Amino acid sequence: MNDENLIEMIGSIAQAFGPSGNEQNVREAIEPMLSGYVDEIRVDPLGNLIAVKKGAGLKIMLAVHMDEIGILITYIDEKGFLRFGTVGGVSPHFALGARVVFENGTIGTVWYEEKMDSMKDLKTDRMFIDIGAGSREEAGAMVHVGDMAVFCGDTVETNGKLISKAMDDRVGCAVLVALARTLTETENEIHYVFTVQEEVGLRGARTAAWGIMPDMALAVDVTSVGDLPESHHMAVSLGKGPTIKIKDSSIICHPDVVERLRARAEEAGITVQYEVLTAGGTDAGSIHLTAGGIPTGAVSIPTRFVHSPSEMISLSDVKSAVKLLAAFIR
Ligand code: CO
Ligand code: ZN
Repeated sequence: MNDENLIEMIGSIAQAFGPSGNEQNVREAIEPMLSGYVDEIRVDPLGNLIAVKKGAGLKIMLAVHMDEIGILITYIDEKGFLRFGTVGGVSPHFALGARVVFENGTIGTVWYEEKMDSMKDLKTDRMFIDIGAGSREEAGAMVHVGDMAVFCGDTVETNGKLISKAMDDRVGCAVLVALARTLTETENEIHYVFTVQEEVGLRGARTAAWGIMPDMALAVDVTSVGDLPESHHMAVSLGKGPTIKIKDSSIICHPDVVERLRARAEEAGITVQYEVLTAGGTDAGSIHLTAGGIPTGAVSIPTRFVHSPSEMISLSDVKSAVKLLAAFIR
């Protein structure tokens, strides 16, 4: 897959509307990209998309999440402004001034109660969305309580980096699609799992792992970086290779999986980084606790500005991640 095709694929998956629990558009974007490259494709009862490449060896599950963070309407006031709650980790500071879009195409601006003394008091319950409605009736003709919206944020390229909403974890989805489409020979049975509801508690991955009962699993997701001005100390930089996760708040990665990743990266000459994420989890967190326990690890794509409308990744990290996974599942 050349760079142009890869960028286009990442963009088309990233732009799909898919807050947690409403991943159907993402599923519909991904499914046709896989057909012809795997032996079986199915959707499980919770909505996880599972594609299988049959094999006689180890059963390996690779998980990426389809859902993105978002907001949902809790109340529409008499002037037509929307009050909202969050779906996953939406920071009020990142949401301020952002545009959000509903599934039906309605777009609004997120703003705040300007009488607030200090921006430290900014909380989502003191914010609202303006969709241009002049009354509760007008707003009610456009959206309803319970409707979800996601950040707007085009997918654009700048100097080998891509900026987009929902890189978390649509870049992971693109990595798995690229892997499935270029898979070199393996004896192993590969289960590509595109999960639902990661952002609200690693939910889809749990039932998918129960259904598959793999011998080994990997989650592929984004991780934050420590290479920004005055950022916290973290030994991960953008563009210096995919990371082998050691730990996050949901898992201590299984030593056999970490070692397999390290050894295969070394053999294949792939530069990697080691990730210790102090806050945040991944699907690996729920997979490894499934049934009697599943040896699980994770590979991450270094990402700047995670959970903002402008998440940034490096194309070189994406390409290396595909190579690393190919080496891992051999
Ligand atoms: Co996330
Ligand atoms: Zn994620």
